[in-house]
Amino acid sequence: MNEYFETNKKNWNERVGVHKKSKFYDVEGFLNGRNSLDGLELEELGDVKGKRLLHLQCHFGMSTLSLARMGAEVTGADFSDKAVELARELTEQTGLKADFICSNVLELDKHLKGEYDIVFASYGVFCWINDLNRWFEIAAHFLKPGGELVILDGHPTNHMFEYNEEKKEVEMIGPYFNREPHRYVTDYTYTDGDEKMVNNVEYEWAHPFSEFIMAAINNGLRITSVKEYKYSSYEMFPIMKKIDGGYWILEGSDLPLTFSMKCVKE
Ligand SMILES: C[S@@+](CC[C@H](N)C(=O)[O-])C[C@H]1O[C@@H](n2cnc3c(N)ncnc32)[C@H](O)[C@@H]1O
Repeated sequence: MNEYFETNKKNWNERVGVHKKSKFYDVEGFLNGRNSLDGLELEELGDVKGKRLLHLQCHFGMSTLSLARMGAEVTGADFSDKAVELARELTEQTGLKADFICSNVLELDKHLKGEYDIVFASYGVFCWINDLNRWFEIAAHFLKPGGELVILDGHPTNHMFEYNEEKKEVEMIGPYFNREPHRYVTDYTYTDGDEKMVNNVEYEWAHPFSEFIMAAINNGLRITSVKEYKYSSYEMFPIMKKIDGGYWILEGSDLPLTFSMKCVKE
C-alpha cells in the first residue's frame, strides 16, 4: 500500500506548483478575499461560525482558510508536504488563524489530537483512498459526540464513464464494482497550465455507494442526508456546458455526477 501512496504523494506534490499558478485555483483572487468554497459546499456545511472544524485532504488550504474567514476554528490535513507548506504560507499572508498537519489521512490519529464539531472533505477525496471504512473511522474518531461529518465528491459511478474523442460522446468503459486500484498515467493535471508532469503516475480506487453507507454505519455515524446531483464541480468531459454557480452539466444526460452526504456522530 505504501508504494501506491508514495506514488500518489509525488504526483500531488508536483501538482501543487502548477495549481498555485492556475486560473482554476485563482490564488490571487483568494488573497483578495474570494471564498474558494462553492455554493453546494456552503449549503451543506451551513453556519460554521465558532465551530471547531477539521478539513481532511485540504490540498493547499484555500478552502480551509475560507472557512477560517467565515469564523470557524480550522485545522487542515493533507499528505502532500508541498501542499501543507503552501497552506502555511497562505495562512501567514492572510493573517488568518489555522493549523495544517502533514499526514496520510488514514494515519492522522498518530499526528493530531482533539475533538471537532465538523469534519469536512470535498471534491477529489475518496478516489485516493483504498480503505473507506478506515477513512470513516478516522472521521468518527475526530468528531465530538453530536458532531457532524460533511462530505461532497464525484459520484461513485463517475469512474465507469469516459469521453470517446472519435465518437465525440461519453461512453461506459468500466464496471461499477472494482476492488483493484486503477493505475492512470496523466501528463497534465486537471487545472489549466501547460507544464507536463514528471510524476505522472497515480493510483485510484473506486467505491460503490453501499461502501459509504456501511462505513458510516460501522463507525457509529448516523446518516442524516444523502443527495445526488446531475452536475459536476469541474469540466469532467469536454462536451459539458457551464451553468450558473460555476457547475458543469452533460446536456441530455441523466447521469449522477456529484453526491453529498452528512452524518452525525451518535
Ligand atoms: C483534489 S484535492 C482536494 C481538493 C480540495 N477540495 C480543496 O479544498 O482544494 C485531493 C487532496 O487529497 C490529498 N490526498 C490524496 N491522498 C491522500 C492521503 N492518503 N492522505 C492525505 N491526503 C491525501 C492530495 O494531496 C490532495 O491535496
